Amino acid sequence: MGSKLWSGRFTKSTHRWVEEFNASIAFDQVLAEVDIQGSLAHVAMLGKCGILAPEEVSQIRRGLERILARVQAGTCTFSVEQEDIHMNIEKMLTDEIGPVGGKLHTGRSRNDQVALDMHLYIRMQTVEMVRLLYELNQVLLMQAERQIDTILPGYTHLQRAQPVRLSHHLLAYVSMFERDMERLMDSYKRVNLCPLGAGAIAGTTFPIDREWVAAQLGFADIYDNSMDAVSDRDYLLEFLSMASIIMVHLSRLAEELILWCSDEFNFVELDDAFCTGSSMMPQKKNPDIPELIRGKTGRVFGHLVGLLTTLKALPLTYNKDLQEDKEGVFDTIATLTGCLKLMAPMLETMKVNQKQMRQSAEQGFANATDLADYLVDKGLPFRQAHEVVGRLVLHCIQERKGLLDCTLAEYQSFSGLIEEDIYDRLSCEQVVEARQSAGGTAKAQVLSSLSKKKDKAAKI
Ligand code: ARG
Repeated sequence: MGSKLWSGRFTKSTHRWVEEFNASIAFDQVLAEVDIQGSLAHVAMLGKCGILAPEEVSQIRRGLERILARVQAGTCTFSVEQEDIHMNIEKMLTDEIGPVGGKLHTGRSRNDQVALDMHLYIRMQTVEMVRLLYELNQVLLMQAERQIDTILPGYTHLQRAQPVRLSHHLLAYVSMFERDMERLMDSYKRVNLCPLGAGAIAGTTFPIDREWVAAQLGFADIYDNSMDAVSDRDYLLEFLSMASIIMVHLSRLAEELILWCSDEFNFVELDDAFCTGSSMMPQKKNPDIPELIRGKTGRVFGHLVGLLTTLKALPLTYNKDLQEDKEGVFDTIATLTGCLKLMAPMLETMKVNQKQMRQSAEQGFANATDLADYLVDKGLPFRQAHEVVGRLVLHCIQERKGLLDCTLAEYQSFSGLIEEDIYDRLSCEQVVEARQSAGGTAKAQVLSSLSKKKDKAAKI
């Protein structure tokens, strides 16, 4: 009976299935270091405010430091009986230094303690995710630079649309990941708030100094409402939302890699280090890594919807439901970290089949818009030009040839406006170079965007 830290008002022990069901230690032990970091700041504040005597503070501090060393060395064993990381550590502390350890929890509840731990943890992970995104973008920028003159078909509806530079295509992803970094950095100000000192719900009767302890822990400010402090999980929803958006971006890139390395496209070859074979078909080289990145997107979305659902209509303030915030968040962090860590070297080592990309760009009438634009230059309204080129394309499909294979006489049977200079105008280079508008695929535009993105990255 007496083994639980809260057993005083109980006359019975819990049902034999309750202990394991109720416990969170299996997953919240990842919070061990931040929990101790929070306790060290809390006890220092109790000392500074005269709530604990200096000797008590140093005893507790030394005890916590010894436990921290064991946590870092990986030699701690946690017990389900102590339910969660907070009570496991408090129990270790009293085992270590005796009853004075019981003074650590003065003026504090597990409700503000767990909120603090999660803020410290997510704050750290937010920085780490920005770092991983930054590294991925460095690889994309390097490839964009390397492939500045590689041309491939750009697609709409997965049908060849207009030729583009591969660098332009890759820089589109750089833009997405830049926004992801910006979102994470913006969210930092909402994570960087200290809930400690809210107590269980209403504050505490002890003369604590919330601002001081918040500053010790590097927070920019404190939660201004104790009830909000213990029940807010918005920052976790925000983190899961941002993670979901990052996974959307990663999954689109992964999907393109999967398509591109199929024999049907044959645009890239992924390094053997990122592929696996088949147990039956000896010829297979499967793109498992991008497939897994695409596949793992589902679980991250699931965690977002899971937490939204847990929080929906939850009355204030702390409810045990909130313990369900952790596994999804921790799994999201592990998933995202794994995906970002693999995407970067996979892109770095990928071989690009420039010839095949170019050949595809030259087929499929990716220059048809340019013929229409040519007729517009000659004074034909765009709608009519579109019609003429449409008929010419149909003629070419029937004749099984491309626009550039038509003779001038053939062109002129569709429109008298077409002259000899059309051949230049419809060449792949010209089609790409003609797109000089801001953000377009012409070399000068892509180079300027590349250098702007590099400058931006250097400022992160
Ligand atoms: N393990 C709990 C959680 O993760 C810690 C807070 C427990 N608070 C309580 N009043 N039972 O939410």
